[in-house]
Amino acid sequence: SPSDPDLVERARAAKEKLGDKVFVLGHHYQRDEVIQFADVTGDSFKLARDAAARPEAEYIVFCGVHFMAESADILTGPGQKVVLPDLAAGCSMADMATAEQVAECWDVLTEAGIAEQVVPVSYMNSSADIKAFTGRHGGTICTSSNAERALNWAFEQGEKVLFLPDQHLGRNTAVRDLGLSLEDCVLYNPHKPNGGLTTQELRDAKMILWRGHCSVHGRFSVESVRDVRERIPGVNVLVHPECKHEVVSAADQVGSTEYIIKALEEAPAGSKWAIGTELNLVQRLANRFAAEDKEIVFLDRTVCFCSTMNRIDLPHLVWTLESLAEGNEVNRIQVDKETADFSRLALERMLSLP
Ligand code: 13P
Ligand code: SF4
Repeated sequence: SPSDPDLVERARAAKEKLGDKVFVLGHHYQRDEVIQFADVTGDSFKLARDAAARPEAEYIVFCGVHFMAESADILTGPGQKVVLPDLAAGCSMADMATAEQVAECWDVLTEAGIAEQVVPVSYMNSSADIKAFTGRHGGTICTSSNAERALNWAFEQGEKVLFLPDQHLGRNTAVRDLGLSLEDCVLYNPHKPNGGLTTQELRDAKMILWRGHCSVHGRFSVESVRDVRERIPGVNVLVHPECKHEVVSAADQVGSTEYIIKALEEAPAGSKWAIGTELNLVQRLANRFAAEDKEIVFLDRTVCFCSTMNRIDLPHLVWTLESLAEGNEVNRIQVDKETADFSRLALERMLSLP
């Protein structure tokens, strides 16, 4: 939908007034009305790097969700302030693993006598507390673009991996990229005693998957893949690895948001695509590539936007930029020093993965 011209003008003026003092990052799942003001766009991996590469910017305005702003705060210099335009922009997946639950899980693994063999690998989509836990226990962070490399690294350090918090990315990467079997993976349920697993099951497992998922990607189904193949003969089905294993298995290709964009850039004219990821991105890609005669549809018309990503809208961005331009430091995201130090350890392990 077209943006309110008055708000567009106010955002432009406030940004101009701030000049080099502000750097605006936009995740691919953000609304068009917000993306138009982003100095860079990217997936969570690229944005984490971009935030760290802008030491001259006093304010990093992160148009994305809470865990991304935390990561930016951890990776940026001491003089830099990370700002999230709406503090209610969280991530339901990240909320599925709390510090207390993960500490309890580690006790369970210790009781089972396997903690020394376990290397934690945590998806970027997790709170700073979980990243700090990961750093403390010798593990690494991963994103959907480097999960395979992260898991290969982890299995060089230990015999078992505890993968947090997205069971689907963990399972899909283990089975599709590392050649593990579904039986090598067990699901740890933080709401059940002992994770709902027997000690023997924990000892036999190679991958201990945390029972978390993305409420958006988790809704794509095998039926939606079947339906789109019927509706559009010759369609290529390309889905994000946060989708369920059976959906990924039914698709033609699987990849992170950056992978999806690249695949569509390289796709021949006349090709047809059904994409299973967040709707803002799919709509933007459909519009962008329509002129090149590439037909791009959303995999499942009943799935909607990521509601927390969508909380960042033009009014919130305008309010944020105008506040900063007037010297009011609003909505700052700050991770305490100890948590930040251990998180940084895990993030830097990711950034230096081969
Ligand atoms: P990427 O940006 O790593 O592809 O992750 C997608 C996502 O769900 C972010 O919240
Ligand atoms: Fe979290 Fe899913 Fe939204 Fe990404 S799309 S921010 S994983 S709820």
